[in-house]
Amino acid sequence: MSLSVAQRYARLLDEVRRHDRLYYVEAQPEISDTAYDRLYRELVDLEKSHPELADENSPTRKVGGTPLDSFRTVAHAVPMQSLNNTYSERELEEFLARVEKNLHGQKAEFAIEPKVDGVAVSVRYEKGRLVQGLTRGDGEKGDDITENLKTVRTLPLSVPGLPVVIEFRGEVYLPQAAFDSMNRTREKQGEALFANPRNAAAGTLKLLDSREVAQRPLAVVFYGLGETSGSKLTNQIDLHQQILAWGLPGHSWFRPVQGTPEVLQAVRELDQARTKFPFATDGAVIKVSRFDQQKILGSTDKAPRWAIAYKYAPEQAETRLHAVTFQVGRTGVITPVAELEPVQLSGTTVARATLHNFEEISRKDIRVGDSVTVEKAGEIIPAVISVNLKKRPKNSRPIPIPTHCPVCQGPLVKEEVFLRCCSRDCVGQLKRRLQHFAHRGAMDIEGMGEAMVGQLIDAGLVQHLEQIYDLNQQELEKLERMGERSAGNLVEGIAASKKRPLGRLIFALGIPQVGAVLSEALARHFHSLDALTKAKVADLVQVKDVGEKVAEEIVAFFGEASTRRLVQALKKAGLNLHALPAELEIRGGVFSGKKFVITGTLSQPREEFIRRIQSQGGSVAGSVSAKTDFVLAGEDAGSKLEKARALGVRVISEKEFEKLVG
Ligand code: IVH
Repeated sequence: MSLSVAQRYARLLDEVRRHDRLYYVEAQPEISDTAYDRLYRELVDLEKSHPELADENSPTRKVGGTPLDSFRTVAHAVPMQSLNNTYSERELEEFLARVEKNLHGQKAEFAIEPKVDGVAVSVRYEKGRLVQGLTRGDGEKGDDITENLKTVRTLPLSVPGLPVVIEFRGEVYLPQAAFDSMNRTREKQGEALFANPRNAAAGTLKLLDSREVAQRPLAVVFYGLGETSGSKLTNQIDLHQQILAWGLPGHSWFRPVQGTPEVLQAVRELDQARTKFPFATDGAVIKVSRFDQQKILGSTDKAPRWAIAYKYAPEQAETRLHAVTFQVGRTGVITPVAELEPVQLSGTTVARATLHNFEEISRKDIRVGDSVTVEKAGEIIPAVISVNLKKRPKNSRPIPIPTHCPVCQGPLVKEEVFLRCCSRDCVGQLKRRLQHFAHRGAMDIEGMGEAMVGQLIDAGLVQHLEQIYDLNQQELEKLERMGERSAGNLVEGIAASKKRPLGRLIFALGIPQVGAVLSEALARHFHSLDALTKAKVADLVQVKDVGEKVAEEIVAFFGEASTRRLVQALKKAGLNLHALPAELEIRGGVFSGKKFVITGTLSQPREEFIRRIQSQGGSVAGSVSAKTDFVLAGEDAGSKLEKARALGVRVISEKEFEKLVG
């Protein structure tokens, strides 16, 4: 009996590991998420009923541990350098020539490998056990993210046969498929979307609760070494092979080459191959393979002289434009959207692209039926770059500019380069307004994502935004795909939003040109929604950063009958319309009068830091100058950080920031 259980366990373990590999490493899952979850559950159950069998590297161990208060900073045993970059083949050839020259006649073999667009980490094993994981930080010292890294499915906690000490350098990433589904879920729940997989991975690594990290399918790939002791490795090609032989996540695409033509050939081959990788890549890395030669070549302060990154131009694809549709935004602005013949681009299928505005369409003379070039430069939404006039079908005509709103048929007016639907009853606008109102940065109503907003409005339950506060559980339960529990949760979410601070409510109203930061300033200045609704232009311009134009927008907004009705209804529903004491504690804030610049990747969206700096009396600027007091620098900070250092401006990390705020 026990033998058959042991066999079943071994088989199941193999099976789950195989599917992990297919998903994270090969980007070719064979089974659905549900089928995977079933296998995984089975593994968990077996380990529970037979704890004596449980493998210490089982995927089920990747669940995270106790949450931390903050990350410890740890010095890197060997600094983590970055790479010099080039976009030109000529500069690449110059690099190769320089290497030959500095090696004084020795021949060099090069390793060509993918440049992963992820988040750099260093993972240390001692006597075969994973003991530490660090972020790059400033290159000299990084954050101790060991607990978070231990949740990475394809990263073993122990590896037989490793040298006594070995640090692997690599990139953490979120596989494209996982990123897509994570953003879909976030969208449904009304949470802010991550701009790209890299940001999502960086944000995830900075979570203090590793149990949350375990919920997000991070992966890692190694390509280099930090400190080692007892290692027999002598070159980069062997390193790649050995990483895989140890069962660690490594590159399966790498090439040993010699001489310029072979280097260029491999770099071009990689450009073709990289579309199939599970991680995003933005270039090839060309490294002198032999470690003794690397040592001869040495490094500058920042980057090694034995390696260079050749960056590929952002990926483009040509496809056919089927149609142009029009989307209505929350202020009524109509955005034209290109509906495309689906095409593969940077690992995702692209079927829509933004056309920005109507001027753009006429400027590029984009027509239905055209072959267009689309480009995706690391962001979610691709853009139409140009038209291939050679392939233009005969009889094509310029796209007619709409005169009526595509949703409510109301008339459109032209405002600068935009067309706007001015009808206050437009359902298209209402959907966007409610989405904005409920959004995480505004009233933060749980369960009220895009899909729910659409359902509520299409079912006629909400005809005016304020009616969400009249919704009751019974009517919600009648909606399609709505169970008793989700209806209850939504009612609770809506009720909880009544207590949000005034600044958020002002932002949620969606006053044109009034963002989150300005909303807070208005809350602090006027103390109540009533006072703000009565404010004249002359009162409004007293608020810092409110110019005449914005003041006029605000006055016009509160002058509208629909706004007055909305404000009345919110009052009746019992929302908080007064500034909370915490919102007013500004004068004497710890950053009173201080100027900040924010750069690099931080653990939370930038708006969050801006909000906090301002709530402590500070201000935030876009570029560094001698007048800057602090540069708040996250991971991978670039030129702004360098400028701050050159000017002697104080640079603080997120952790130091938290300390200052107290
Ligand atoms: S080697 C001293 N190899 O790109 C060697 N870096 O833009 C320094 N990166 O800091 C790194 N793929 O975070 C190396 N195959 C690869 C890489 C790679 C991605 C990252 C790494 C580096 C950054 C430079």
